Amino acid sequence: MDFTVEGKIYHKGSFEEAYLSIRQGKIAAIKKTMTSGSHLTVGSQVILPAGIDCHVHFRDPGFPKKEDFSTGSAAAAFGGISCVFDMPNTQPQTTSVRALLEKTQRVTQKSYVDFGLLAGVNDENISMLPELSAYCSGFKIFLGSSTNTLHLNLQNLHRALVEAEQAKKITFVHAEDELCLKKHQATEQSLVDHLRCRPARCEEEAIRTVLKNIPSPSSLVHICHLSSRDGLEALRTRPNNISVGVTPHHLFFDAPMLQKNQTFYKVNPPIRSSFDKEALWNGMNTHLIDILESDHAPHTLEEKNVDFDSAPSGVPGVETLYPLMLAAVIKGQLTLDTLLWMLCERPAQLLHLPKGKLEVGRDADFIVVDMKKTQMISGENLHSKCGWTPFEGYPAIFPSLLFIRGEQVIDDHQLLVKQGFGASVGV
Ligand code: DOR
Ligand code: ZN
Repeated sequence: MDFTVEGKIYHKGSFEEAYLSIRQGKIAAIKKTMTSGSHLTVGSQVILPAGIDCHVHFRDPGFPKKEDFSTGSAAAAFGGISCVFDMPNTQPQTTSVRALLEKTQRVTQKSYVDFGLLAGVNDENISMLPELSAYCSGFKIFLGSSTNTLHLNLQNLHRALVEAEQAKKITFVHAEDELCLKKHQATEQSLVDHLRCRPARCEEEAIRTVLKNIPSPSSLVHICHLSSRDGLEALRTRPNNISVGVTPHHLFFDAPMLQKNQTFYKVNPPIRSSFDKEALWNGMNTHLIDILESDHAPHTLEEKNVDFDSAPSGVPGVETLYPLMLAAVIKGQLTLDTLLWMLCERPAQLLHLPKGKLEVGRDADFIVVDMKKTQMISGENLHSKCGWTPFEGYPAIFPSLLFIRGEQVIDDHQLLVKQGFGASVGV
């Protein structure tokens, strides 16, 4: 349906009272004057670009007790996210053309939001990357082991990055060095043990190795979920074909503050010290870090309610990513400009998407949100199948409406599109 939305629109770096016209799912005009036709007024709320979460684990296929693509993408929609990129550690892992094709077919019928799939790189499939690239939006390399992850040997890293560059795809890297992790391996009983077993040095070493192996200035590499000050220092003089992501759990938590229910905060890379946390806020505010990502990694309550050493690593976060950061903007912890760059425009640029910005010609992906309506997060009100959040009680600003390609996807309480509305992007 073609229509016009009237209100305070975030456009070219500031708010403007204007009319945003939508034609065939695209932004057709942003004007000061009214056009005829169907028309929505948002009152005192504001219109912002929808978010893009470039790092989620929706567990589909393989782990339907934790999540599936319909619940994961519903959670994304209620969090103001119009597009997600799903990681390859599903079951089967997406390391072959067949697994990618089957997963694409499956999630195309389930997703409420647009999506891209990443192909996993292991020691066996490097020569297949050009072929895989026709079926994925990018590649993922795990340099250190984590939950049901693949692993790539350091000797194969350069060759993998060369192949990915030739395939013109971005490569996401989980930067923890496996040999370093092995050296520190021990039984763990607490979050502090967990961070001792996965020290910042392992992150820093992996990042330095990645930087040494970048084949050329046109090779796009994304360092996922940076967690430490030392890792950030290693990236200080990086070239701009390297992007760096941070998650809300690494920004809001430090290990000493988390005394209760510690298994629920067990995640890789680990939650570290308040020094590391401060360094990440700083890195974000000085634009050294340029992506916000949730690393949404749900596990069930039963799986987390065990002794620390046996608990799986990972926390959910796709629905709280944008709302937590909007509340942080209101508190003055970062600017709206920085947030929209990191969560909308920069991911769109890296993944070649016509999204991420309210601009003529781009997809009409936007949220309507009341910036005065801060509320406390409650797991009960969220939509992930796992049924809990590490951010219980944290202030957040949720969108009241989400539009994707000009279609209204949610209002305050319900989904307005069918499963399968979401389209595959970035392939
Ligand atoms: O904590 C984590 N959980 N880190 C990862 O790298 C994977 C993730 C998961 O899939 O559960
Ligand atoms: Zn992840």
